[in-house]
Amino acid sequence: MKITVKKLLTNNKKISLLDKEILLSHVIKKSREFLFANPDFEISFWQKIKFESLLRQRQKNIPIAYLIRHKEFFGLDFFVNKNVLVPRPDTELMVATAIAEINEQGTENKNILLIDVGTGTGCIPIAIRKSVLSANPNFKMETIAIDISKKALCVAKKNAKKHNVEIEFLHGNLLEPIFQLSELRTENTEIIITANLPYITEQQFKQEPSIQKEPKLALVADNEGLALYEELLKQIKQLLLTLDFRLLTMFEIDPTQTDKIKIMIKKYLPEANIEIKKDLAGLDRLVIIT
Ligand SMILES: C[S@@+](CC[C@H](N)C(=O)[O-])C[C@H]1O[C@@H](n2cnc3c(N)ncnc32)[C@H](O)[C@@H]1O
Repeated sequence: MKITVKKLLTNNKKISLLDKEILLSHVIKKSREFLFANPDFEISFWQKIKFESLLRQRQKNIPIAYLIRHKEFFGLDFFVNKNVLVPRPDTELMVATAIAEINEQGTENKNILLIDVGTGTGCIPIAIRKSVLSANPNFKMETIAIDISKKALCVAKKNAKKHNVEIEFLHGNLLEPIFQLSELRTENTEIIITANLPYITEQQFKQEPSIQKEPKLALVADNEGLALYEELLKQIKQLLLTLDFRLLTMFEIDPTQTDKIKIMIKKYLPEANIEIKKDLAGLDRLVIIT
């Protein structure tokens, strides 16, 4: 019997139509638009088997991005696998804010050192570098990306290669690899630290079925989700004591953490200015520290 696009998309009511369309277009290597326009397109037996296997995995809450091995972020396509957090649209706010800041600093005499802490897929520094340098190829911007997961760093390196961007990848805890660098030149430099670190609580993690298959190391932190940001703030304080540079830091947070993070920042960096930006849903999402 003929197996068509229409038939496969109407089977299995447990999976949303959108997910089925994405998986089917991945299997037959055609766009979703092709599916709409060609409901009677014939699918081979092996394609049907592959599609059904993906549906079974999707039913076990495996993120669709892991199944199709990529995810779009800030208009760029990123390779993803089970070792990294799937990039979220919320994080595009940090990227857009960093790009605006870097462009505002101008190209003339200033060096920019971008340090992305907890880089995962590398989506933040790659999107920033790609955007800034495509508009101005002569921009002086060094980029370092750090992660505690070696497997995540492999994914980030693969993405940097794919997008042809130069990033130094370092393995370690938060900014510790920076302290170990024998030479860090910061004269006339603005350092921008971007950090989308794990910030949800154990309880939030347990209550959210959709994130169970993503690495817990990328999602959960102690101390009401703020333990890693606190440790990072301590390290930033130490960095500021040892080096002379202008610093801008950005943290992505959960909207419930605004008051606590403000208190924490004031504890370690009493002189700092703090600005909070909201995401597209109108929720506090980005903390900017200058
Ligand atoms: C929420 S994910 C964010 C990934 C990526 N930046 C993004 O926005 O999609 C947090 C990342 O921080 C890394 N991480 C967790 N603890 C860390 C630590 N102590 N030092 C450095 N990286 C850490 C995880 O491995 C994970 O890749």
